[in-house]
Amino acid sequence: MTTLSSAPIGQAFGIDIGGSGMKAAIVDLATGGLVTDRYRIDTPQPATPEAMAEVVVELVGHHGWEGSVGCAFPAIVRNGTVGSAANIDESWLNVDADRIFSEAIGVGVHMINDADAAGLAEVRYGVAANFAGVAMMLTFGTGIGSGLFVNGLLVPNTELGHLELDGYDAETRAATSARKRDGLNWPQWAGRVEHYLRHVEALFSPDLFVVGGGASKSPHKWLDLISIDTEIVVASMANNAGIVGAALVAP
Ligand code: BGC
Repeated sequence: MTTLSSAPIGQAFGIDIGGSGMKAAIVDLATGGLVTDRYRIDTPQPATPEAMAEVVVELVGHHGWEGSVGCAFPAIVRNGTVGSAANIDESWLNVDADRIFSEAIGVGVHMINDADAAGLAEVRYGVAANFAGVAMMLTFGTGIGSGLFVNGLLVPNTELGHLELDGYDAETRAATSARKRDGLNWPQWAGRVEHYLRHVEALFSPDLFVVGGGASKSPHKWLDLISIDTEIVVASMANNAGIVGAALVAP
């Protein structure tokens, strides 16, 4: 359902949904800056569509927002419908998320993959603004998310965290969660990330990697240890990229 947005012109509402938290803010679309504080609520467990819809209602209510809403989600999302469930509750599979959330809040909602959202924010306002060529956003967190941009245009749902690497699903080896789970020190983890990036490099020949997600909060611990041919930059919008990118797709 799409209704007329009563949002102030130039502002939009973004929600970033993750495995542990759901965060939201009003975004200034002229600058990509947040107009309000980020408000965070723990992701309910189990994270079913119904339970998460209740949190979405709370997030929107907290900010007193009455316009439409964009939502970043850690899965394949095609035309608002969830197409994978690597790190989310399986009950999301094939659910029309746009419809469930729209019905819960009573305004239009559009969902987008979380790494695609983060990349959109970076190509619009951040380190990849006006970048000409092939830029690849990679987020290192619970999983590895990817967002592929050609001259700023998104090729959605690339899911490169699930490339097979040495017989493993790559994100199970090189995500931030793998570093913690396997008790790796930074050089050991950086070695795995380098191996992964070299693989992606060989397959896509990107002109730029933008790295984001949890690991991009401490780039000094690992980024210099990585040696690849492609230029790598750290995402500039850090924690806010998902919210800002989500706001950009609000209907
Ligand atoms: C999911 C992606 C998501 C990434 C980061 C992966 O497990 O398959 O859709 O972008 O995690 O959250």
